[in-house]
Amino acid sequence: MMGIKIATIGGGSSYTPELVEGFIRRYDELPVQELWLVDVEEGKEKLEIVGNLAKRMIEKAGLPIEVHLTLDREKALQDADFVTTQFRVGLLDARAKDESIPMKYGVLGQETNGPGGLFKGLRTIPVILDICKDMEDLCPDAWLINFTNPAGMVTEAVMRYSSIQKVIGLCNVPIGMEMGIAELMDVDHSRVRIDFAGLNHMVYGLDVYVDGVSVKDKVMELLSQPEHSSFVKNIEGMGWDPDFLRSLNVLTCPYHMYYYKTREMIEKNNKSAKEEGTRAEVVQKLEQELFDLYQDPDLSIKPPQLEERGGAYYSDAAVRLITSIYTDKGDIQPVNTVNNGAIASIPNDSAVEVSCVITKEGPKPIAMGDLPVQVRGLVQQIKSFERISAEAAVTGDYGKAVLALTINPLTPSDTIAKDIVDEMLEAHKPYLPQFFQNIKA
Ligand code: G6P
Repeated sequence: MMGIKIATIGGGSSYTPELVEGFIRRYDELPVQELWLVDVEEGKEKLEIVGNLAKRMIEKAGLPIEVHLTLDREKALQDADFVTTQFRVGLLDARAKDESIPMKYGVLGQETNGPGGLFKGLRTIPVILDICKDMEDLCPDAWLINFTNPAGMVTEAVMRYSSIQKVIGLCNVPIGMEMGIAELMDVDHSRVRIDFAGLNHMVYGLDVYVDGVSVKDKVMELLSQPEHSSFVKNIEGMGWDPDFLRSLNVLTCPYHMYYYKTREMIEKNNKSAKEEGTRAEVVQKLEQELFDLYQDPDLSIKPPQLEERGGAYYSDAAVRLITSIYTDKGDIQPVNTVNNGAIASIPNDSAVEVSCVITKEGPKPIAMGDLPVQVRGLVQQIKSFERISAEAAVTGDYGKAVLALTINPLTPSDTIAKDIVDEMLEAHKPYLPQFFQNIKA
């Protein structure tokens, strides 16, 4: 592969400087020739601002990477080698609804879990499948690296409902856990390895090593402390009961707080929503500040304020993955890919988040055996939720959407599920045509 072409869908995102920084840092190993940042009409202004910052960053680094800004997706996809996706259908206003509507019913309002996760999936999946269709025609050999949430459900949908085989779902939670644990243990990130197994935002560390020696007991002790129990900026950890963690006997990811401390997390979210707005509203302000900074013609680096977003280390995760595919590195990275027998209690053809060896042919999942019985059921339940949600997104089947939410462990009853689905369908109507097109006036 000579002169790598990258197409980034949702290129106007405030996260783009992360990605650009990653390409600059790894240029020696990954000589990107063209970076195409694509967005839709609504995101035109942001694309222009962030795209110009990307150009300044590259110029400052003295690298021959061409940056193209476009609203023409087909042009961007033509002959691309890697397509990265980081878009948000309905922008942050839709996220604010995902977070606030469930709250009225006493249910968690969160971007990727429970009702919010369902509706983000319903809006996103038809769009990603459309992108997949374009890829079949315009860049059939490209890798699709999906960062768009809910990343696990979206990857599952691409695997099941498109003919794209070369798809990898990516999240910054595993790399955030590795970095966080390296810091806690006061060692370089490269010395830490975690055996990851589970699903996106539902991943466990079956063991954790520093220089090949297990430090699981020590790490679990640290996770009991509130200040060490989350590794992402968007979730404030509450700490774990040390006895609970010892019995669970695996490392948790920050999103497990929503499942094992549901009541407390709902109260906490509702309280902060009252005091400072929902996370979407907080992020809207943060984005405004970021875009004000990005507009400064003298700025030519990624501003540190971007690290206040939950997606920190995204660039490291994305660019190290692309680099390892390109160079056939064979290193180990946690990604979302087809299970293929790596986790015994999950169907072979489902998407899982698991440590993989990364090669030119893609990720080769490492066999993790069975999940311990104490976590197996929850992971399977979330997988069922993801599959039924993806089916609802593709078919526009109302009954499936209600079913998906009813079986989600964060939903307390079938009638509440129905009420939430009804209200959220109306609230997101412009982005959910598949649910309305068969209704006769
Ligand atoms: C986490 C998740 C990402 C998510 C992000 C939200 O780190 O892993 O999937 O997109 O947080 O961050 P935000 O700053 O938008 O709340």
